[in-house]
Amino acid sequence: MSDFLPFTRPSIDEASIAAVAEVFRSGQLASGPKVRAFEAALAAYLGGQRHLRVMTSATAGLQIALEVAGVGPGDEVIVPAMSFAASANVVVLVGARPVFVDIELSSRNLDLDRLEAAIGPRTRAIMPVHFSGWPVDMERLYELARRHSLRVVEDAAHAIGSRHGGRPIGSFGDLVVFSFHPNKNMTCIEGGAISTASPQEAQLIEQLRFHGIARNAEGEIDVKRASGKSNLSDVAAQVGIDQLKRLDGFNERRRSLAARYFAALAGLQEIVLPARGDEGHSWHMFTVLIDFAARGMTRPEFQRSMAERGIGVGVHYPCIPAHTYYREQGYRPEDTPVAARVGRETVTLPLFPQMHDADVARVVSALRAVLQ
Ligand SMILES: Cc1ncc(COP(=O)(O)O)c(C=O)c1O
Repeated sequence: MSDFLPFTRPSIDEASIAAVAEVFRSGQLASGPKVRAFEAALAAYLGGQRHLRVMTSATAGLQIALEVAGVGPGDEVIVPAMSFAASANVVVLVGARPVFVDIELSSRNLDLDRLEAAIGPRTRAIMPVHFSGWPVDMERLYELARRHSLRVVEDAAHAIGSRHGGRPIGSFGDLVVFSFHPNKNMTCIEGGAISTASPQEAQLIEQLRFHGIARNAEGEIDVKRASGKSNLSDVAAQVGIDQLKRLDGFNERRRSLAARYFAALAGLQEIVLPARGDEGHSWHMFTVLIDFAARGMTRPEFQRSMAERGIGVGVHYPCIPAHTYYREQGYRPEDTPVAARVGRETVTLPLFPQMHDADVARVVSALRAVLQ
């Protein structure tokens, strides 16, 4: 059998490894010049009009963004019912309550037709997720947010390099949070970033990511509020600097592989394809739906059969209200039936820049064999 094909793998080149070695030799390992350079590079990539601040993960970034938006106990935040659990967990962690709204079957994004009905007197913010790198309809979303005076914390964990109407995600909008986990379109080992238009909010983010510490004009420290620690290391920032230079190339390759999947999977009745999107889609993942119950097989059995054929398959994501913690809080997956279905039926096929065109054919032939 040929090599095992994982569902994703980061692309780290020798130049990045050498650059990281230089950072180690410099003796400056924690947040320093490389963090500032990474933030400047991200701001430039996003058009130069925004303030970017990096931290150890998107999870930390989402929690900080909610705090910056003033979300706290007694508030509600609208979250899509199908996403990584972090999207809802951070709402709980700031003492607020997630209100789950169903998703659209094709885009797997928040269903904006259902959004307004979920807005109530306690709603403070909306957290759209640009699922798999395909942006939510931003004009509609922000029009709704403006009409109801709501903050928007965009979970753009999948969407670095995605565009909406030609504009990069994170170059506009309220608080936009990226992830640089190794599975994402670019990585800094573990890391995240917040994009904001407000210099005051950027300053608050700096405080919240580092103990709540502010400095006076003479450089003396003061703590205005208790906060945790999620500052990025210079070692990680160096990886991010190199990855950002390659991001557009990575995403171009992802788009080309996705197009190959669409061509190769056309006519395969057993699966439901994702929305095609347009050139703004950054194809973080290629997810298809399979009705495992109707085929008399479980998803883990399917994954094992694919693995036996050398193909790694992921699951992104179970419906959040189906998780034990959320069930125990009284949420029910059946209240968001599209998310519940996607949560049961979704699988993620391999898609990463170093994949060969022939790998797509390998995946599709394994898929046909397992589903026949
Ligand atoms: C939609 C979404 N939000 C948030 C996160 C959290 O990102 P991180 O691992 O950088 O904390 C992820 C990670 O997979 C994600 O997929």
